[in-house]
Amino acid sequence: MIETRNGTLFLDGCDTTKLAQKYGTPLYIYSQTAIEERFAELRRDFVERWPGARVAYAAKSFFCLGMARLVAEAGMCLDVVSGGELRTALAAGFPAERIEFNGNNKLPGELELAIENSVGRMIIDGAHELEDIESICRAKGKRMKVLYRVTPGVKADSHDYIVTGKKDSKFGFPLDEDVIYPAVEAAIRSPYVDFLGFHFHIGSQLFKNEPYLQATDAILELVRHVKACYGVEVRELNLGGGFGIAYNDEEERKPYRYYLDPMMERIAACFDEMGLLRPALVVEPGRSIAGDAAITLYTIGSIKEIKGLRKYVSVDGGMTDNIRPALYQAVYRGVLANKASQPAEEIVTVCGKCCESGDIIIKDAKLPKAERGDLLAVFSTGAYGYTMASNYNSIPVPAVVLVRNGRDECLVQRQTWEQMTACQRIPDSLKGE
Ligand code: LLP
Repeated sequence: MIETRNGTLFLDGCDTTKLAQKYGTPLYIYSQTAIEERFAELRRDFVERWPGARVAYAAKSFFCLGMARLVAEAGMCLDVVSGGELRTALAAGFPAERIEFNGNNKLPGELELAIENSVGRMIIDGAHELEDIESICRAKGKRMKVLYRVTPGVKADSHDYIVTGKKDSKFGFPLDEDVIYPAVEAAIRSPYVDFLGFHFHIGSQLFKNEPYLQATDAILELVRHVKACYGVEVRELNLGGGFGIAYNDEEERKPYRYYLDPMMERIAACFDEMGLLRPALVVEPGRSIAGDAAITLYTIGSIKEIKGLRKYVSVDGGMTDNIRPALYQAVYRGVLANKASQPAEEIVTVCGKCCESGDIIIKDAKLPKAERGDLLAVFSTGAYGYTMASNYNSIPVPAVVLVRNGRDECLVQRQTWEQMTACQRIPDSLKGE
């Protein structure tokens, strides 16, 4: 998808330097082909190999109206975590029954919106949520399908901020007998919900299947217990997302099968042994679909050499469009899009334009000699970039473009100053004469 033609960087058949002229920079550019290939891999290696299997794309990684259409057209389901994501999906015409609603503190208004629209699954995350769902269902004459999110108590290997399967977590139910079993029993007995099974998501940007297998073993234990104590068969298991991608030369993306095959085998063996019907399986990948489908394009401005120390190359965006280096010490790769065939000849620090020393996009980038006006492309910025963008320093959120086989279309327009300040008011007391 990414190639060099006549010294210029192309993505999905589009000249990135022309895109910079047309849309301005900073610019997020998504390859539709790359996204579709990930969906195809999931369809071939998971959905078609396990009856009833589904993929619920994690909207938090990258989402907008156009992305909702792409997910819908690929026949996938959607994992949302807020009323905003849910509204975006519904506004794009995404089928509500294919939406799964996650989140550790779903607000009353969000629950109402989800139930009113009959979303496909509610993933219950805490003790009071079942009662909240029941009272809304009672008032609206609805019945919801529910799963319980549990924290299987495994420690996955990733940045502390994106590890979620530990017992000490704000997400899900710990597997303490006096916590999880009464909760399950309440759901089984409730006339307002249909209890389907369990959900876990142990963390993000993971490269080993071992913690997934440990988590699988922990919920299979739960499955056995629920059958033995309540005579109820678990019909669905949601295995979360978290599959890692390569941001730099140190990391290597693994195929979905590396994670999913051993989990499927273990689940099949357990259900077969118990003589139960195999459950529907769901995964919720986000980053591994959107992450390396996009690049961010910046224009280089100020260049500053601190003799004997470091050369700073500043770009026209930064932590406002990619917070990940500052927040998780994420390491990215980049090239000069207009000098893509030139050999790297210097090591520079690519920094953003925010008033923060930590606003560094790439610490030691190996680049051809960079000059003002050159275009820098940073790779694999498709996940948790646009969706985590901020207006720090009153910097507008960049535009987002979708490219496919030489065609470019706008997904999101660049934010304007008027839009950034639209909610601001000068109080009467400060209006002056
Ligand atoms: N399902 C649940 C319940 C989740 O909490 C998440 C991510 C996913 C699925 C999707 O995980 P993925 O396949 O994208 O790894 N902002 C951080 C990542 C936070 C992930 C939060 N939950 C980052 O930029 O690395």
